[in-house]
Amino acid sequence: MSDGATARGSATEREEARKTAEGLEHLSGFGNEHSSEAVPGALPVGRNSPQRAPLGLYAEQLSGSAFTEPRAENRRSWLYRIRPSAAHPSFTRTGNGALRSAPFTQTVPDPNRLRWNPLPDPDEGTDFLAGLWTLGGNGDVAQRSGMAVHLYHANASMRRVFSDADGELLIVPERGGLLLRTEFGMLHVEPGHVALIPRGVRFRVELLDETARGYVCENYGAAFRLPDLGPIGANGLANARDFRAPVAAYEDVEGPVEVVNKFCGNLWAATYDHSPLDVVAWHGNHVPYAYDLRRFNVMGTISYDHPDPSIFTVLTSPSDTPGLAGVDFVVFAPRWLVGEDTFRPPYFHRNVMSEYMGLIEGAYDAKTAGKGGFVPGGGSLHNMMSAHGPDRETFDRASAAELRPQKIDDGLAFMFETRWPVSLTPQAARAEHLQQGYDDVWRGLERHFRPLH
Ligand SMILES: [Fe+2]
Repeated sequence: MSDGATARGSATEREEARKTAEGLEHLSGFGNEHSSEAVPGALPVGRNSPQRAPLGLYAEQLSGSAFTEPRAENRRSWLYRIRPSAAHPSFTRTGNGALRSAPFTQTVPDPNRLRWNPLPDPDEGTDFLAGLWTLGGNGDVAQRSGMAVHLYHANASMRRVFSDADGELLIVPERGGLLLRTEFGMLHVEPGHVALIPRGVRFRVELLDETARGYVCENYGAAFRLPDLGPIGANGLANARDFRAPVAAYEDVEGPVEVVNKFCGNLWAATYDHSPLDVVAWHGNHVPYAYDLRRFNVMGTISYDHPDPSIFTVLTSPSDTPGLAGVDFVVFAPRWLVGEDTFRPPYFHRNVMSEYMGLIEGAYDAKTAGKGGFVPGGGSLHNMMSAHGPDRETFDRASAAELRPQKIDDGLAFMFETRWPVSLTPQAARAEHLQQGYDDVWRGLERHFRPLH
């Protein structure tokens, strides 16, 4: 992948991929019973598994939940494909690269507030899978609980196909567009969008720009869903209709294709004699999807104080305890601040939940200072009960600000908020891009207390 001819070829491929990406159609809605066929008549009518599936296809069910889970939780799709997924040779272990999985036990859990600069540039020829770098996480892949925080930095399109048996992948691009070729069809995402690849769904990531950088939440637990809206009512936050699912599109490729499968924390590879992205038609609700975070309908105060940041939840992975998420995906999108007699940036707090924050673009309104700063592609970790909030500069500014209506529109930050502390991988704990002196941003918060006599 390092010779000039391949690099030139890649530019042409990127152009072609972009043309494909920008012409895509999609299906609308979250959690729907979608159906789609790339060839008319490929989808059976009135049954899932006819004696002979149409057009000589094989019928196959992909389950995202146990067969017996309640209807509202139940996820499965039926795929009609050129060859059944069962037609593959044995997998053998392959290197995990910088990808790590729960349980994360190689470092001592760290109560300190931590912040990282973006990942360094990857070696030439690094695809999305090779570019994945695990920061840390919690839970246990074998127990289907917890989550991992990964970052990626890639400069080559995948030739191979990847699937993750350990969890679903919420991809948050920060730099560079992506064309995701999945078993269900194609999705196009740019920075400011997110894409979700369900557990077990095979896909390939093609780059639309020279490099691609971003974040991934690997959710080992219950599938992400839209949060309940309670008194907000029937609309708001992420509206279901704004989620995009792909239409069926298939590869009819005979020839060697490397397929990598993440299973219980390790990567396993097999060389198929055909592309497994060969689904000609499908129906169901266990599907990949994409969402533009700028569509998020932000709710906030119109009187005083501001709601807890749970009001910014895009997607939530519930646990067995009502209201307690395994992980929430939260976005800090452009919004107006109008609260009267209110300290408008996020307040000081200590949280039983653990917060990993990343920045997609611009700046975040509680963090302006510090060596290296909070920059796009970087991230911060505020683990369970760690004290955090505005830095001194932000506190001073916001405490003195004239409280006119103010538009916050210079940044797009997000949070993976999880019920368990995030333990670091050794590579994250010792990374050169781990900032030193992050605590200093809260230095100099002066004493103002003046007891009355
Ligand atoms: Fe926080």
